[in-house]
Amino acid sequence: MTPANEPAFALQGVSYAYAQGPAALCGVTFGIGRGETVMLLGANGAGKSTLLRLMDVLMPPTEGRILAFGREVSPDLLRDAALSRWFRSRVGFVFQDADAQLFSPTVEEELMFGPLHIGLTAGEARRRAYELAASFDIERLMDRAPFRLSGGEKRRVALACTLAVNPSVILMDEPTTGLDPKSESWLIDMLHQLASAGKTIVAATHSLHLAAEVADRAIVLGQGSGLVADGAAGAILDDLELLERANLIHTHAHAHDDDSHAHPHTHAGIHTHSEDGR
Ligand SMILES: Nc1ncnc2c1ncn2[C@@H]1O[C@H](COP(=O)(O)OP(=O)(O)OP(=O)(O)O)[C@@H](O)[C@H]1O
Ligand SMILES: [Mg+2]
Repeated sequence: MTPANEPAFALQGVSYAYAQGPAALCGVTFGIGRGETVMLLGANGAGKSTLLRLMDVLMPPTEGRILAFGREVSPDLLRDAALSRWFRSRVGFVFQDADAQLFSPTVEEELMFGPLHIGLTAGEARRRAYELAASFDIERLMDRAPFRLSGGEKRRVALACTLAVNPSVILMDEPTTGLDPKSESWLIDMLHQLASAGKTIVAATHSLHLAAEVADRAIVLGQGSGLVADGAAGAILDDLELLERANLIHTHAHAHDDDSHAHPHTHAGIHTHSEDGR
């Protein structure tokens, strides 16, 4: 059903406008190869979350087409139960707002939900939930209500839930939001492990640090809602003029001549927009 050489995603001239709003995305075209780790960069309101929601087929593009593993996908097409299961078992989405993703009475049920949905037995789903809880260090949270967890705990649970169906593509919206420095390092290690395991990762982030640590490739959305750059992450993160044009960094008029002060990693910690991103 899935030709081995098809890219994970192909977006062809994708535009999106919310009802009564201006265009949130304009004519975006790119492919995501299998096994790539791609960071979506862009200032607040640039359209990163919109793009991820379209890729997760939560809404149809206003214009253009989206293909996953060579097959066109849309909310209409995913009304077919078999196609929906095919897509949902391959593509997982970690929301920007964990509260919008977590809805079960307990963390244990939340972790079992996806596996049950794709047809595992209750015993298999429970075994998978506990394996994930161990690797995410959230075993002590299993009986807790997700909405009563701390922000960072919710993020861990949300990522574990997404991985519970063992998707080959993981879409993530602001994965480092609300994480303390130790949890952020843990997340970076986890993303490296997932990438080594061959997963395709597409994450929207304001953290140029995260992008520098994990991305092979960066896609930059400009404030005109179109794609302004797409290339090797290292080259894009070193292009200060581009980052400034995309409103990702801010350089002071009286900045030092000393070049070490102009590195985006320095700026990322001090001058980028709110990590909370909303
Ligand atoms: N539910 C919605 N209804 C109407 N307009 C929306 C909605 N969600 C987003 N928008 C608008 O669409 C544009 C793109 O928003 P989006 O959330 O995709 O940006 P973003 O790049 O994810 O921003 P952030 O970094 O703040 O998370 C913005 O102008 C925003 O105001
Ligand atoms: Mg967003």
